[in-house]
Amino acid sequence: MSSKCLVREVGQYVGQEVTIGCWVHNKRSSGKIQFLQLRDGTGFIQGVMVKQEVEEEIWLAAKELTQESSLYATGIVREEERSPSGFELTLTGVKVIHLTKDYPITPKEHGVDFLMDHRHLWMRAPRQRAILVIRNEIIRAVHQFFNEKGFTMVDAPILTPSSCEGTTELFHTKYFEEDAFLSQSGQLYMEAAAMALGRVYSFGPTFRAEKSKTRRHLIEFWMIEPEMAFVEHEESLQIQQQFISHIVESVLKNCQKELKFLKRDLSKLEQVTGDFPRITYDEAIQFLQEKDFEIKWGEDFGAPHETAIAEHYDKPVFITHYPTELKSFYMKPDPERPEVVLCADLIAPEGYGEIIGGSQRIDDEQLMEQRFVEHKLSEEAYQWYMDLRTYGSVPHSGFGLGLERTVAWICGLEHVRETIPFPRLLYRMYP
Ligand code: 4AD
Ligand code: MG
Repeated sequence: MSSKCLVREVGQYVGQEVTIGCWVHNKRSSGKIQFLQLRDGTGFIQGVMVKQEVEEEIWLAAKELTQESSLYATGIVREEERSPSGFELTLTGVKVIHLTKDYPITPKEHGVDFLMDHRHLWMRAPRQRAILVIRNEIIRAVHQFFNEKGFTMVDAPILTPSSCEGTTELFHTKYFEEDAFLSQSGQLYMEAAAMALGRVYSFGPTFRAEKSKTRRHLIEFWMIEPEMAFVEHEESLQIQQQFISHIVESVLKNCQKELKFLKRDLSKLEQVTGDFPRITYDEAIQFLQEKDFEIKWGEDFGAPHETAIAEHYDKPVFITHYPTELKSFYMKPDPERPEVVLCADLIAPEGYGEIIGGSQRIDDEQLMEQRFVEHKLSEEAYQWYMDLRTYGSVPHSGFGLGLERTVAWICGLEHVRETIPFPRLLYRMYP
């Protein structure tokens, strides 16, 4: 009797016979030997079948197998230095489960639209698998970091009665008779939770009805949003750099195979430790003007600006102290210069753009009331948020990390569409 095992476990069964539920990723044959590239989702392994060593029935069954056919493959596990997994299977039996006809994604090149239309199948490709494995490692590292630092995870609602980041990008829906919006950030709820639990974070889907068709924008993306009571701007930046370094270190430690498969330049990731460089908005404007960008104080940065700044550093860089006018209503003004806020965007290296947006929050009740007027926010809708300033208000800070942009950066991907299992893009909601 052979043992049932996963491809990732074969190392425990060298010299023994195992059975693996798997799919045919690829196949070639020399007439006397068949080489089956098998995958079970946990890894890839080559199965070798020698005609003389198996019964004819088994040989013929294997011969029938096509790309993406499913089967139970039985064989003896052998160590094989030349194989990427380090092991090979000398096949002694195959039990065909399902023969696939005309699998649409062949080893030849396909256009992006074709692949996106077949995302449900494209996921099976080794490159896509590597990306999703790294995404999972990043998620694991996020939870580990916050668990070890005494944060409690708190879930924010998805259906919300009001906006957090501004009304232009909200998805509108109905909540029975009432109007509702899909959450664009869990932050305001995390501020409430921080007053209850001290240090909290949410990790959930967020939605932005942005008409942006860039390689960095998704309509639905996942955000990690820590919020910390009694933490001011400076301490928040320290936590952010530790957080990012921890994520990168975890991927480097646990996803070597996947990074190698993606041909990621590891030397770039290995530099992401210690203190990150910082530049103020003012300095950034000056820097850009010296590089002949047409940008004036008070204007926001676009992707080309961010890339020009990031190129100057080999680590992520914080851009701090943006003009108050440019940023959200809740950001705390710099007490020494109220025209700028105590905020920071973290720009990833190598042109991957902003991965974190964060700030210290306004804790003064009167100033918050003033902001409500300036931003024409309904006192009624935000009454609960005001309460946080009325009852035991404390200095607090928080930030939001975009998961998909982080995946794109760490994996070295051109476009965020590959960073999420089923991307929601402008003009694409299928499959
Ligand atoms: O800078 P943003 O809009 O900040 C907030 O929403 C704050 N409320 C977060 C907080 O302080 N709790 O978004 C945070 C991050 C960005 O830096 C970016 O990484 C990501 O979310 N992000 C997007 N990712 C993919 N597609 C989009 N359309 C994104 N918009 C923002
Ligand atoms: Mg931002």
